[in-house]
Amino acid sequence: MDPPEEELLRIAVGADHAGFRLKEQLVHLLKEWGHEVVDLGTHSEESVDYPDSARVVAEAVARGDAERGVLVCGTGIGQSIAANKVDGVRAAVVHDATTARLSRAHNDANVMAVGARIVGPEVATEALSVWLATPFDGGRHERRVKKIAAMERDEG
Ligand code: RB5
Repeated sequence: MDPPEEELLRIAVGADHAGFRLKEQLVHLLKEWGHEVVDLGTHSEESVDYPDSARVVAEAVARGDAERGVLVCGTGIGQSIAANKVDGVRAAVVHDATTARLSRAHNDANVMAVGARIVGPEVATEALSVWLATPFDGGRHERRVKKIAAMERDEG
C-alpha cells in the first residue's frame, strides 16, 4: 500500500503477546511511511499482561513524548480500556477504515487499538493508514471531546 499523505509523526507502539506479530508488521509499515516509531514492546510471543504495554504507550502520548499511540492485543478492547484510564488519552478500538476514520474525525482519538485476533493484517494496515491521514473535524465534535476532558478534571 502507498504511504498515506499526512504529516510525519512520532508514534508510540505497544502490544501484548497476542498482538506481537501484528505490532511488528505495523511498526515496519510506520517506519516505511516515514514516521518515527517508539516501540515500547512487547518483543516476543511470551505471555504478558496487556495493561502494561497499554499504560506505557498511553503515558507517552499523555506526556507528549509521542503524538499518537498504536496498541495491539487480541481484541484491542483490554488495551483500550487500560489506555483510557490515562488522562488526555482517547483510545479507540478500530476494526476497519470506517471506525478508523470516525475515531479521528469525531473523537479525535490519539490512540488506536486494534485486535490481532479480530482483523487481519491487510485490514489493520488500511485502518492505520486512514487513521493517520484523517484530521479531527472539530466543530460540534470539539464540544463533545471537551466534555470528556472535563470528566477527567471531575468538572461534571
Ligand atoms: C490475551 O489472551 C487477551 O486477553 C488480550 O490480548 C486482549 O484481547 C485483551 O483484551
